[in-house]
Amino acid sequence: MACLIARRRRLLLLRASILAVFLAGFAFPSVSAVSYRRPRRRPDLHVARRLDENDSTPQQVHISMVGSDKMRISWITDDPTPATVDYGTASGNYANSSTGTTSSYRYMLYNSGQIHDVVIGPLQPNTVYYYRCGGNAGRQFNFKTAPPTFPIKFAIVGDLGQTEHTNSTLQHISQSSYDMLLLPGDLSYADFWQPRWDSFGRMVEPLASQRPWMVTQGNHEVERIPVVHSSSFTAYNARWRMPFEESGSTSNLYYSFDVAGAHVVMLGSYTDFGPSSAQYKWLQSDMAKVDRSKTPWILALIHAPWYNTNTAHQGESESVDMKRDMESLLYNARVDVVFAGHVHAYERFVSLVFPNSLVKNNISKDKADDCGPVHITIGDGGNREGLATKFRNTGGEKISVFREASFGHGELEVVNATHAQWTWHRNDDGESVCSDAVWLTSLSSLTSCKA
Ligand SMILES: [Fe+2]
Repeated sequence: MACLIARRRRLLLLRASILAVFLAGFAFPSVSAVSYRRPRRRPDLHVARRLDENDSTPQQVHISMVGSDKMRISWITDDPTPATVDYGTASGNYANSSTGTTSSYRYMLYNSGQIHDVVIGPLQPNTVYYYRCGGNAGRQFNFKTAPPTFPIKFAIVGDLGQTEHTNSTLQHISQSSYDMLLLPGDLSYADFWQPRWDSFGRMVEPLASQRPWMVTQGNHEVERIPVVHSSSFTAYNARWRMPFEESGSTSNLYYSFDVAGAHVVMLGSYTDFGPSSAQYKWLQSDMAKVDRSKTPWILALIHAPWYNTNTAHQGESESVDMKRDMESLLYNARVDVVFAGHVHAYERFVSLVFPNSLVKNNISKDKADDCGPVHITIGDGGNREGLATKFRNTGGEKISVFREASFGHGELEVVNATHAQWTWHRNDDGESVCSDAVWLTSLSSLTSCKA
């Protein structure tokens, strides 16, 4: 369906790759990659303020879903302007208006612009709304709300950054008819240089102002410098406020929400996750509250992957210890899919993985389990650090079924309460090529997996 390789060029590539995959199979039996000349790493792009904008012009506009029928509109101005959003269902005709809050932050010598957050609604599902920010008539935006029921399509990508590769990824996502974007951490790669956050906000605005972008944080969001700037997540929390209070969370670093029959859990890999932590207790409570008759699907997002056969990021606490502490909560709740970033490559694991893995003498003892989540690493958005090109030769049970070091993005189309199609789209010379596809069955529909 969504993964047709139609062009003759693709067929030729496929034929050529069959031999390569056959040969590679002797050395790395779980690899399912085709031959591909990987792009070199690219430097950051800088997206400057538009020439027709002044200090009062709304910029870096992005939206996020709040509850079942509201939307948070976030934007930045250089000068103080009203935190108001005018909106309606006809272009230029704003029947409604809401007021929110304005904040700013300081990071060493950098002073942020005025960061405005306004929650609007109630809104109708699956409906296009037109809106303007701060009463500014010069820029009108529009977005579409998520559908109330299946089908719904998520675009999923982590470790975006802001390079030419990122631009390719964003262009492909914009062509995908997606309803909501899920981002498992590492957004701007500002890495302490705060103007990069502004550049990133301008880069993603064309997409993020039109569909809800629901994000969680990665290591590049921490931005803590001992003594000099001792707070963590200063820019991330100020610029990318997510609806955490609505799910009973006390932190912007972890939260959950329901959309169209899916319960989506956004976890924080870089905040406390141990059994006595606030996040652990919140997750325990959140999982207990899930009603599978209302949300037959549960998706979870983390940044540092719990399963990973790439040589990059092995043995990190955020992977190993968080997995040890939290995996049973997700497993027992029958979470369907866990998406991660951090590793700059794509990897999909067999359905499904048992939460009792251990590594001894570098040999994985992970086991497949039909009632555990599918784990997918999608840290391939296109950042400036380049790709993680080396994979380990895995021993034991073959749980990694597709892995490839290429930039790209994923799409999860949840068709109904029982079935969803996952596809991975590689950026091939700037063109989106569907390179991996699999149908998933919701665990709530399997009587053998009833919790
Ligand atoms: Fe990362």
